[in-house]
Amino acid sequence: MGNDSASRVYVNNKKKACEVCGIYSEEHALPEETTEEELLALIDCLNARKDINGILVQLPLPKGIDSEKVLLRILPEKDVDAFHPVNVGKIMIGNFDFLPCTPAGVMELIRLTGIEVSGKECVVVGRSNIVGKPQAMLLLHENGTVTICHSRTKNLKEVCRRADILVAAVGKAKFITADMVKDGAIVIDVGMNRDENGKLCGDVDYDAVSSVASAITPVPGGVGPMTIAMLMRNTVKAAEIQKGM
Ligand code: GUN
Repeated sequence: MGNDSASRVYVNNKKKACEVCGIYSEEHALPEETTEEELLALIDCLNARKDINGILVQLPLPKGIDSEKVLLRILPEKDVDAFHPVNVGKIMIGNFDFLPCTPAGVMELIRLTGIEVSGKECVVVGRSNIVGKPQAMLLLHENGTVTICHSRTKNLKEVCRRADILVAAVGKAKFITADMVKDGAIVIDVGMNRDENGKLCGDVDYDAVSSVASAITPVPGGVGPMTIAMLMRNTVKAAEIQKGM
C-alpha cells in the first residue's frame, strides 16, 4: 500500500520468486489514500479464500494506518511473514509453524559456514520486531549466548568485539567498522541502505571487515535473497498445513 520505492523492489522480487517456484501469487497494490477499513476488508476476503494459503502485507504502511491492527487481522495460519502475535508467541516458546523470513535466512547462512552456534557469543545489533528481536530468539534456540545491542548500549565496540557471530540490523550505512569485529568472526549484514553516492550498501563496512571476518555476507546478494527463499518455504508450509499434509 502506498508508494514506498524499496517496497516496490521487494514485492517485485517476491513475485518473481513465486513464479520460479511455481507458486500462484497475486498483488493487490492499494493507493496511498486507501482507508484502513478497505485494507482490512481485503485481508478478510483473502483470509476466507480457500485458494490463498499465504498473505503478506508489505511494510511500511502509510502514515495513519495502524500496522499492528492490520497484521493482527491476517489469519495466523496464513501469516507467512510470521508477524502475527500468535506466531511471534509460538517462536518465543520454540513451538512454531513459521519462522520470520529474514532471521530464518540468517540462520541458514550461519548453518552454511558449518560452524555450530551452540555456546558461541552471538551479538545482534538492532532490536526491531522484524529482525533484531526474533534473530536473538533463533540464536538462543540454537544455544548461542546472545546479546542484543541498540542505540542506548554502552561500549558498543567492545560488546561487538566479543562476538563469534555478529548480526548487523541497524539500518545505518557501513555502521560496523573493522575495529568492532573480532578476528575470524562470522558477520551477517541485514542492512539495506544507500551510501553517499546512492549505491546500495549494508550496515557493515564490507571491504574493511572482510579482511577480519572468517565469513561475511555482501549487500546486495547476501541476506536479501535468503529472506525471499524463506518466504517461499513458509508459503509451502502454510499450504501443507492447510491441506492437512
Ligand atoms: N518490510 C521490510 N521487510 C519486510 C518483510 O520481511 N516483510 C514485510 N511484509 N515487509 C517488510
